[in-house]
Amino acid sequence: MRKKRILAVVAAATLALSMVGCGSGGSSGGGSSSSGVANKDKPLCWFNRQPSNSSTGELDKDALSYNKDTYYVGFDANQGAELQGQMVLDYIKANAATIDRNGDGVIGYVLAIGDIGHNDSIARTRGVRSALGTGVDANGAVDSTPAGTNVDGKATVVQDAKLDIDGKTYTIRELASQEMKNSAGATWDAATAGNAIGTWTASFGDQIDVVVSNNDGMGMSMFNAWAKDNKVPTFGYDANSDAVAAIAEGYGGTISQHADVQAYLTLRVIRNALDGVDVDTGIGTADEAGNKLEKDVDYRYSEEERSYYALNVAVTADNYQDFTDSTKVYDKVSKQLDSSKSPSKKVWLDIYNASDNFLSSTYQPLLQNYDDLLNLNVDYIGGDGQTESNITNRLGNPGEYDAFAINMVKTDNAASYTSILSK
Ligand code: BGC
Repeated sequence: MRKKRILAVVAAATLALSMVGCGSGGSSGGGSSSSGVANKDKPLCWFNRQPSNSSTGELDKDALSYNKDTYYVGFDANQGAELQGQMVLDYIKANAATIDRNGDGVIGYVLAIGDIGHNDSIARTRGVRSALGTGVDANGAVDSTPAGTNVDGKATVVQDAKLDIDGKTYTIRELASQEMKNSAGATWDAATAGNAIGTWTASFGDQIDVVVSNNDGMGMSMFNAWAKDNKVPTFGYDANSDAVAAIAEGYGGTISQHADVQAYLTLRVIRNALDGVDVDTGIGTADEAGNKLEKDVDYRYSEEERSYYALNVAVTADNYQDFTDSTKVYDKVSKQLDSSKSPSKKVWLDIYNASDNFLSSTYQPLLQNYDDLLNLNVDYIGGDGQTESNITNRLGNPGEYDAFAINMVKTDNAASYTSILSK
């Protein structure tokens, strides 16, 4: 069904050259990359890591409005984070009678943090702490600092919470949390999370009643290393196919960030700019093929932030059967574009870390399904997750491409890319 693979790059590029003459006002002006459009004027889509200050979270407006065809595509981090927190809280309430494994009246959880400078990760840490009541205020927002080890409940970046369930009062405690960064610098690192759960359980395993993770990659690593055998519910984020399947085996739940909508939007905003049509085409307004998303159900758009945000959905034992294939294109936007109106174009796209579970097992396969539907010939560049230069080194000839889709290593580093395009 969804097995269409990208075809030879050269053949498609040649085809693009012979298909000059697209809609008016498009930034590419028709033809292919050799059309003479300056690299700085070509469509640019940031995705997954929103250009922003990694300490304050403030958006990098220069990068987000680099040219008139620049957008960011991600998902609503706060809405998703609230859902994740609520999902964990609902589970604890519904299973109060059995959840406190050692019967000490303390429901203890551990938390795997992805990247302390990534706004999605910060939002998820805050979402869980707010819902469970373990968050403390830091400058007007919930503190997202890792607690380290907090078995005695004395950490200052979190607090113990009280929860009344069925007439009994429990203490909820964040027993431990840390950023899962490996020695080479890669964040959201699943192997590091697998090691951390080993260290934690060796010293206070019987106190851990719930495992929470900022994503499924790390969550599944902890589940497989310990939680599954010990029947401890584990909650992640991303709805990767392996995590959804694990719900049948005791994984507590996950959040779908609607990667099927995001991957579509990433390539669709580029397609629209190249065709010189309104950016809403095939998004909030049906295109000729009938592709259309539902605004405020599937996504929301902020003009001021130049950002499209997919909306999240909780995936639990109640509905996981609907989410078993995370790489399936979204029905509403699954129709092939007419290549006489949307001719083949060449796109440079990077995945900041080729071994990131979510990006490699969910997002990229989705992009590869949509690039065919949208007649885009995409070169996928896989980074090492550690340095921007590992990726930018492979953007040696931007003139070869019609558009760019960029996933940065660090959200502060947009200029590492735009400086190449501005040359
Ligand atoms: C995903 C993580 C992923 C990260 C990479 C997040 O949105 O949920 O799984 O590791 O993006 O930037």
